[in-house]
Amino acid sequence: GQIWSLVSDKHTISLDYAPSLSTTTLPHAPEADKVGTRTEKPLESLFAAAQADGIRLMLSSAYRSAKDQQTTYDSLLELNGRDYVHEYVAAPGASEHQTGLAYDLATITHGCELDANECSLDAGAITWLRGHAADYGFIERYPSGKQSITGVAGEHWHYRYVGVPLANALKAASMTLDEFVQQVAPGYASNN
Ligand code: DAL
Ligand code: ZN
Repeated sequence: GQIWSLVSDKHTISLDYAPSLSTTTLPHAPEADKVGTRTEKPLESLFAAAQADGIRLMLSSAYRSAKDQQTTYDSLLELNGRDYVHEYVAAPGASEHQTGLAYDLATITHGCELDANECSLDAGAITWLRGHAADYGFIERYPSGKQSITGVAGEHWHYRYVGVPLANALKAASMTLDEFVQQVAPGYASNN
């Protein structure tokens, strides 16, 4: 796949697909330590810049295999019900987390270090990320108000790596990745 490839319910990838992976030393929730090798340095730069501004980030979710996605789906279905998973959780093969390009970010807390379900981003971190994540190649992938375009309800915690030039262009245009691909490469499928 390309750095800008769509992965969604409408653009699924093979359940067997796995990117090149690395084990991160960044703070993370249990089972959130595998990152796409391509994003390892950009994530480190993002976290270091945040820390320099007093924002302490950790990964609440990172790479997830299709099997991990099924587990996530099943556990969130049990925890939050059918409406929640329909709005927020992709099916196996339809999640950006399988690409090793997408991360759920949280503010460092002891609870989050013990249980990913306890993770959240505080208001300062949400604002900081909206202002600075693009400088490291990451976009807020599912802005609230864009659900009809992205197919996912607002997720201020889910960041997708697309590289610095595209991230800055999308931010400047307030454009989602879906809109960009539809305009620039309509019909392009994630598994091309
Ligand atoms: N929460 C996003 C949509 C995912 O499951 O990949
Ligand atoms: Zn996510």
